[in-house]
Amino acid sequence: MLIRVGTDRPVASSDITPRSLWLRRREFLAAGAGLGLGLAGFGARAATSPYSTDEKPNSRADITSYNNFYEFGTDKSDPAAKAGRLKTKPWTLRIDGLVEKPADYALEDFLKPFSMEERIYRMRCVEGWSMVIPWLGFPLAEAIKRAQPQAGAKYVAFETLVRPEEMPGQRSFPKIIPWPYREGLRLDEAMHPLTLLATGLYGEPLPNQNGAPLRLVVPWKYGFKGIKSIVRMTLVAEQPKTSWNMIAPDEYGFYANVNPGVDHPRWSQATERRIGEGGLFAKRRPTLMFNGYESVASLYSGMDLRANY
Ligand code: MTE
Repeated sequence: MLIRVGTDRPVASSDITPRSLWLRRREFLAAGAGLGLGLAGFGARAATSPYSTDEKPNSRADITSYNNFYEFGTDKSDPAAKAGRLKTKPWTLRIDGLVEKPADYALEDFLKPFSMEERIYRMRCVEGWSMVIPWLGFPLAEAIKRAQPQAGAKYVAFETLVRPEEMPGQRSFPKIIPWPYREGLRLDEAMHPLTLLATGLYGEPLPNQNGAPLRLVVPWKYGFKGIKSIVRMTLVAEQPKTSWNMIAPDEYGFYANVNPGVDHPRWSQATERRIGEGGLFAKRRPTLMFNGYESVASLYSGMDLRANY
């Protein structure tokens, strides 16, 4: 059975599996799958997904303490140390632009119709490290369909909250990023079944440092496409401006597909360091095209992925 979103919070805590039960439940489900038993027979709360990897997830401690969230500082430890002050309730999400049903939603109303599922995805950061993260979320496609895109809509632009009182990185001078942090996807990328809006990880609501209360997850792209703490999604006709591309266009493209054959100008992208595997001196893993999510290749047929990095 799928998790239903609660009415007064992004994910009702009574509906989600406590952390202590999570690993056992996964073993349970794996055993069930081996016996050909369906989820319903186990009374499991969140559906596992054929889109999930069976690689071992990173620990919750790794996932929630080694973060990039420049609104809270540039060190990996800053988000965990400083994001606690961010108020994520109430939260308003605006959906606008080329849609039939533009709206300002209270987050709980926005989430009501969607069923949460667990998706265990690899995440590859452009900096050369990777993790495996058990997200809780739903396909972005469902939210876009509900807004009813107009024929002219070709891209989705996303924006993060601007609230310098609670986000010390937004008060720093000189500005590292022209706030808000912005990201974008082509509409067909946004509609791909792998693309998620996440509200949780490890069966619990997202910690602030991971982008509470709502973030994007696009597992075949470098992690910086996964914009956190989203307040606005706008359907547009032209390719939108995106933060890292605005800051350093030679280094960070709009597409940002994981590609071991196209190096960052300052380092190789051929290999990666899996967080939790023994630090800087651990054996590096080969990086896979599209981060191993080969099914997305057809989105880019005929495109030069060296030029469109
Ligand atoms: N979203 C916002 N708003 N601000 C950021 O600085 N950093 C990005 C992305 N989303 C970032 C953001 C980068 S560079 C990465 S690698 C991922 O978030 C990191 O996600 P994680 O900290 O949950 O692992």
